[in-house]
Amino acid sequence: TAPTDTLIRAELLSFNANPGEANTPSADSLDHYADGLLWLRDGHIHRVGHYSELAPSAPASATLYDHRGKLIMPGFIDSHVHYVQLDIMASYGRQLLDWLNEYTFPEECRFADLEVASRHAEDFLDQMLGHGTTTAQVFGSSHRTSMEALFTAALKRDVRLLGGKVLMDRNAPEALLDGDNGIKDTERLIADWHGKKRLGYSLTPRFAPTSTKAQLDATGALRRNDPTLWLQTHLAENLNEMKWVEELFPTEKDYLSVYETSGLLGPRSTFAHGVHLTPSMRSRLAAQGSSIAFCPSSNLFLGSGLFDRHAADAAGLAYTYASDIGAGTDLDGFSTLKAAYQVGQLAGQPLTAWQGFYGLTLGNAKTLSLDHCIGRLAPGFEADFVVIDTTASPLLARRSQRCQTLAERLFALMMLGDDRAIQETWIAGVCQHRKAY
Ligand code: GUN
Ligand code: ZN
Repeated sequence: TAPTDTLIRAELLSFNANPGEANTPSADSLDHYADGLLWLRDGHIHRVGHYSELAPSAPASATLYDHRGKLIMPGFIDSHVHYVQLDIMASYGRQLLDWLNEYTFPEECRFADLEVASRHAEDFLDQMLGHGTTTAQVFGSSHRTSMEALFTAALKRDVRLLGGKVLMDRNAPEALLDGDNGIKDTERLIADWHGKKRLGYSLTPRFAPTSTKAQLDATGALRRNDPTLWLQTHLAENLNEMKWVEELFPTEKDYLSVYETSGLLGPRSTFAHGVHLTPSMRSRLAAQGSSIAFCPSSNLFLGSGLFDRHAADAAGLAYTYASDIGAGTDLDGFSTLKAAYQVGQLAGQPLTAWQGFYGLTLGNAKTLSLDHCIGRLAPGFEADFVVIDTTASPLLARRSQRCQTLAERLFALMMLGDDRAIQETWIAGVCQHRKAY
């Protein structure tokens, strides 16, 4: 059958490499077309260029969408988010351990019910796409049903998604503990979903305090048997959590060592937070190619502390940007970058818009080992992207009008943008979200 071609005329911005920390992006690190053409074919990006150069070679049968005045970027990537916590966002006033006991664990108990899980899975994807995120690495609850529901919903919309059922077999309400079924249910989900279309499985031990060493070891064995699996957990988020881990694992030399001795580190392993890392932990994580998910709005909300980006950079430790909903306060990438900027300000580490938007797109894709297929507007890449309207909110519109340079416009977007600026979200060449006016 003949290919289906779609053409979109808009301003285009895409990174090819890390732009560096300077106020000016390093040479060739990005492509920017003020009047560009994005040419899609069969769910992938076919060609990208200046409208005037590319348009003449496009077939007359192609559908053309005129988005002049709008900015298209690769879809945003959220490397750490709990879909089962959507309804406990903004729960008042405690640090991590109290917040887990008071709000999180009771809420997650509801996901034993497939109907509850399915409804939340659809709602989560609606919200995720509505906020410009096209790929996420997601925690379910400890129930197998929670991930059946999410993978089913993601498959229907063809969303590229990583995720896993939480493993937890102690120190939480009985209804959340998975015991021996934890590994069995995980194996079943891997068999059913890992590598199916655009889905990937992330082994998901919640964090050291809620798993026995036996469960962590069994998780490490699964990882060793199949290095194509991803892994996600939490690490060094909160000082009371750190103390608790010391008490629970008195023979381990530090928090990270609990995960190391169970074989959980590797290039596809994401450790959320890493606010309280020691130099030794940074270098051991870096040596294994593991990364930190930096969750700035969550770290501010729970008062966890300030992630040290520069120390991570100096140690060669990669990090991604993440919302960490429900402890995070915003699902959209702009707000995550705004919070990252604010954390940076308090830590004496300003964040440029170049770094921020590189991070949300190609940077996150690279660190999650997904940069062969997403994160760029370039030929051969999957056609996941966002159409951004910088006039969509009155204050952003006013501010954008004053901007002279692309750097200024991007920075204003990073500080003032929210889901109102997401006009459309495209998944594999299909518009899956269009803003209602
Ligand atoms: N540590 C263990 N579980 C969680 C969680 O659900 N959210 C956050 N922010 N930290 C955690
Ligand atoms: Zn989390």
